[in-house]
Amino acid sequence: MKILFLNGSPRKNGYTIGVMKCIEKEIDSKHTVEWIHSYDLSVKPCLSCLQCRPNKSCILPKDDGHNVWDKIRSADILIIGSPTYFGNISGPLKILIDRNLTAFEEIAASGLEMPIPLHKGKKAIMVTACNAPFPISQLPTQSKGTLQAIEIVLKAGGYNILGSITLDGAASRNEIPLEIQEQAKMLGINLQS
Ligand SMILES: Cc1cc2nc3c(=O)[nH]c(=O)nc-3n(C[C@H](O)[C@H](O)[C@H](O)COP(=O)(O)O)c2cc1C
Repeated sequence: MKILFLNGSPRKNGYTIGVMKCIEKEIDSKHTVEWIHSYDLSVKPCLSCLQCRPNKSCILPKDDGHNVWDKIRSADILIIGSPTYFGNISGPLKILIDRNLTAFEEIAASGLEMPIPLHKGKKAIMVTACNAPFPISQLPTQSKGTLQAIEIVLKAGGYNILGSITLDGAASRNEIPLEIQEQAKMLGINLQS
């Protein structure tokens, strides 16, 4: 299986990537793992022309946004992680996802019905890290908002969301807590079953 890690954190040694790596550690070597680091890419924002719907390709001059389309389409499993920024995902991750609308869903022939999810039944996991401590971290203005934003994308794609991990109180930590490592381990194992 192709397992894709879509990362929205700029910090390579940060908590979002740290938790995603705990999931990756559980993946059997028979699977193919690929990472996309949204901050390493050069991607122009979506212009909302919606020509990608009929054309199945973005009209913007070729950039890294185009290259990601096929990776999302062909992945069997998707892990999306983002730091919580103002209760939402990070800007570069949002831009990358918007640019790849048709990698997640397709419009029906008439153009009038609900979009068709392209990844029905594929497994997915959501990860976020935030500074707010529990229980404030659970507010929609904090990590919950980030997870909701990721969930909207995954649900549009029809993914089966196995679970989510929130590492809260990040500012007062210096390592990933054991219970979060355990959650990541379980989800990593479940991904492959
Ligand atoms: C622009 C910005 C906005 C942020 N907004 C929030 C927030 O709304 N709630 C929160 O708890 N932490 C917020 N934080 C803190 C980050 O979520 C926190 O540093 C997190 O650990 C970053 O993840 P990382 O370790 O993967 O980089 C914000 C940080 C930045 C830079």
